[in-house]
Amino acid sequence: MDVAYPSLETGYISCPIQGPTLQMPMLDIISDASLTVHAGEQQNWIPKCSIGTPIINSTSRWFENSEEVIAFKEGRQPSFEYARYGNPTTKVLEEKISALERAESTMFVSSGMGAIVAVLLSLVPPGGHIVATKDCYWEARMFIQNRLSLMGVSATFVDMNDMNLLKEVLQKNRVSLFYADSLSNPLLNCLDIKKVSELCHSHGALVCIDSTLASPINQKPLTLGADVVLHSATKYISGHRDVLGGCVSGSENLISKIRSCHFDLGSPLVPNAAYMIIRGMKTMHLRVETQNNTALKMTHLLEKHPMVCMFIIQDYQAKSQMSGFGGVVSFELAGDLYATMKFVDSLKLPYIATSLGGCESLVQQPAVMSFWDYSAAERAKIGIKDNLVRFAFGIEKFEDLAADILQALQNMILCSHTPQLTSCG
Ligand SMILES: Cc1ncc(COP(=O)(O)O)c(C=O)c1O
Repeated sequence: MDVAYPSLETGYISCPIQGPTLQMPMLDIISDASLTVHAGEQQNWIPKCSIGTPIINSTSRWFENSEEVIAFKEGRQPSFEYARYGNPTTKVLEEKISALERAESTMFVSSGMGAIVAVLLSLVPPGGHIVATKDCYWEARMFIQNRLSLMGVSATFVDMNDMNLLKEVLQKNRVSLFYADSLSNPLLNCLDIKKVSELCHSHGALVCIDSTLASPINQKPLTLGADVVLHSATKYISGHRDVLGGCVSGSENLISKIRSCHFDLGSPLVPNAAYMIIRGMKTMHLRVETQNNTALKMTHLLEKHPMVCMFIIQDYQAKSQMSGFGGVVSFELAGDLYATMKFVDSLKLPYIATSLGGCESLVQQPAVMSFWDYSAAERAKIGIKDNLVRFAFGIEKFEDLAADILQALQNMILCSHTPQLTSCG
């Protein structure tokens, strides 16, 4: 499959840039486990002395002579030209994600936020209208509210799965794009992607899903009808908390449009980062499977614990469209802000940190970590209570994590005898 990187419409590049031919080592690979290992590999530029994809750190390719330049310009000799438009190492990574997301094409950039901005700038025209869910990634929401608005883009923020409001907004406005995170963070709301896509398409609107919290293993939004799916590859995809990256996948036509916009934004993934993400991806299915299992078992263990008063459990929708629910588990404790801090501080194994999807388990109290700058009233409006705790489980042994959480809950009981401790607030 030759992948053209069209850019003619921008006028910046004189001819389509093409990558080399994808050669799948086995024609009938279908499982995600095999795809994470093999898809995109064995490109014809990789010498047989290397099983691992090498890092090509060059900014430019060179030509034998002018005839070769012309052959390249006329598309007769596919290659890479300049690193901002494409890189062989990154191409392997893009092919891997395309295979997992069942996409015609994928673009990788230097961060998840970079992918979000490229999607929004290329799929929503100046003066257009966007509908986004209220609990989409906070910085995406801020970009829509504070920056797209300067380009005359208006926006409506809706509750996830409020079909009546969505219908109304679609009828009243010429909506270019519906944008949602599914699952959402930290409340794990799940969008009915199929239903929303059908509705949006009937009104000419595209659908973009930020599927970071699900991972490409647990959910495939394009197969449910979404037009583009994006990820912060910083999370499950790379999996080792040592590299930033972002990707967006969809039809060749849409990704070309987003790619040509990103040529101007100019923040490609560096080849070293591509190499690290490819390496991380080789074990993504194993990591995600472990994280799915740990999160599910922990839910069963803790949902009846007397100190846990509200568990955020995957709803029916998630069960019907996801093959696993990922490693994020959120619950509210029977205590106030300070009692909950006590619980978090008593944990020994998870790091107190933001992010998710890596090998090490993380814990955070969203009211203290991500939403400390907000008033209690503002936090309440978006469902972030003082006693909410969010775990992003890694790949440690379940029994070790469970023992640690149980001792921290016990410590929370022992350390505080204040009446508010028993209130679910
Ligand atoms: C759901 C979601 N989308 C996008 C992003 C942005 O990704 P990055 O930090 O790689 O820019 C994040 C980051 O936390 C996220 O959680």
